[in-house]
Amino acid sequence: MDWDDYEKWGKEGIKWGSNYRKTIRELPVRSQLKPGQVFNSIPNSPPENPESLEIIFDDFKTKIVPGITHWQHPRFFAYFPSNAAPASVFAEMLANTMGSQCMLWQTSPAATELEEKIIDWLRIAMNLPSEFKGIIQDTASSATLTAVLTMREKSLGWTGNKTGLSNRSRLRIYASEEVHSSIDRAIWFSGIGEDNLVRIPVYGDLRSMDTDELRKAIQRDKEKGYVPAGVIAATGGTSTGSCDNISDVSDVATEENLYLHVDAAWAGSAMICPEFRNLWSGIEKADSIVFNPHKWLGAQFDCSVQFLRDASMQKNTLSISPEYLKTKGVTGITNLSDYTIQLGRRFRALKLWFLLRAEGLSGLRKVIRDHIKWSTDLHDSIKELKNVEILTHPILGLFTFRFVSEKTIKTNELNEKILQEINDEGTIYLTPTKVKDNYVIRFTAGTFELKEEDVHLAYKCIKEKSEKL
Ligand SMILES: Cc1ncc(COP(=O)(O)O)c(C=O)c1O
Repeated sequence: MDWDDYEKWGKEGIKWGSNYRKTIRELPVRSQLKPGQVFNSIPNSPPENPESLEIIFDDFKTKIVPGITHWQHPRFFAYFPSNAAPASVFAEMLANTMGSQCMLWQTSPAATELEEKIIDWLRIAMNLPSEFKGIIQDTASSATLTAVLTMREKSLGWTGNKTGLSNRSRLRIYASEEVHSSIDRAIWFSGIGEDNLVRIPVYGDLRSMDTDELRKAIQRDKEKGYVPAGVIAATGGTSTGSCDNISDVSDVATEENLYLHVDAAWAGSAMICPEFRNLWSGIEKADSIVFNPHKWLGAQFDCSVQFLRDASMQKNTLSISPEYLKTKGVTGITNLSDYTIQLGRRFRALKLWFLLRAEGLSGLRKVIRDHIKWSTDLHDSIKELKNVEILTHPILGLFTFRFVSEKTIKTNELNEKILQEINDEGTIYLTPTKVKDNYVIRFTAGTFELKEEDVHLAYKCIKEKSEKL
């Protein structure tokens, strides 16, 4: 393939892509293939000789697309969204075409400087104080890992990287029972160890961390000679949208000199709307905040923003500067790989730049407000249905429910079965979670091109199932 072929096939690809996205509603949301179908349709060994793009592209359409779960389908109500708005897809294509690797300022000054600017735009959009700087990472998992490593290093006086963790007091990290599994993994990978992740019980409708219990846990640990290192709070937990009271948590963190990281991977995007910021009031006292524009803001995956109140702490934790990475002859520059685990960095700021300009903050706010309103309307309608029980009420539109039937007490199995049927039918896609040992179904609206009629269709599906019970 040469660059003339690229132009020809690029046009074909874009034509296919825009048609795919315009007609996506006609496809089942979740792939209906059985395990092994794609694998077995691909030859066992690579081709010895070049193949034509006609054939490769055709195989893409017939072998790959049927095995895709359509995350951009407006009736994707599963997990959390992973959006790809057109302006951001377009920018990503340009970034991919340039193929820049943006690890240092000098390896693409525009990528570094645009990233710094975009972080500042988002900071302003979310009304965070000006001391917050930041970076764009691949995923929230990476941002949380860097925050946990920073907690570790800060609590060890910046010596852990050099001398390791052996023969030291146990470090302790505190988080509520509701935090995402990426927090557990960050604790594993940092060498702190899962036994040192202290789960604090939650209270109230927002299922917030109980800060009296947090204080007690810290005291107990100090009495045992352990070293409290940091707190991880959530705004918009994955299961039910739980939100810690950041103001109360940050008071404890300040009293105890603990690093505070806030995981707002999903809910953070909603903070461009002033009316939802009460869910994270006190956020200005956090040390590190992560949110994923690829989840709800419309940016193409992958795109995770980490704001840092004092970025030098993360730099102290991660920066390394061998001779071959030094930049000679310029001053006043930032090398963003000083703040991330990976050295190599994709040019992710470009898609945010295009997206923010093409939609404007007003356009993005409207998308989020509509989603929250339509989800809440759906919740209000299905709570009236016979045989449906609401387990948790909407937090930014995320709620959980389950089917109940007088004919069975095996409610968990019943819901598992109905959910499987719904997803096999393909009109909508929903995923489960557990609320106090109950198997429940989550509903969250978040795809960029969702319309109110799509939510009405979800209502129809749920109503039909409830009527059959
Ligand atoms: C609250 C929360 N935190 C973290 C994550 C992990 O996100 P990522 O896939 O960007 O690592 C998720 C994923 O859905 C999430 O919901």
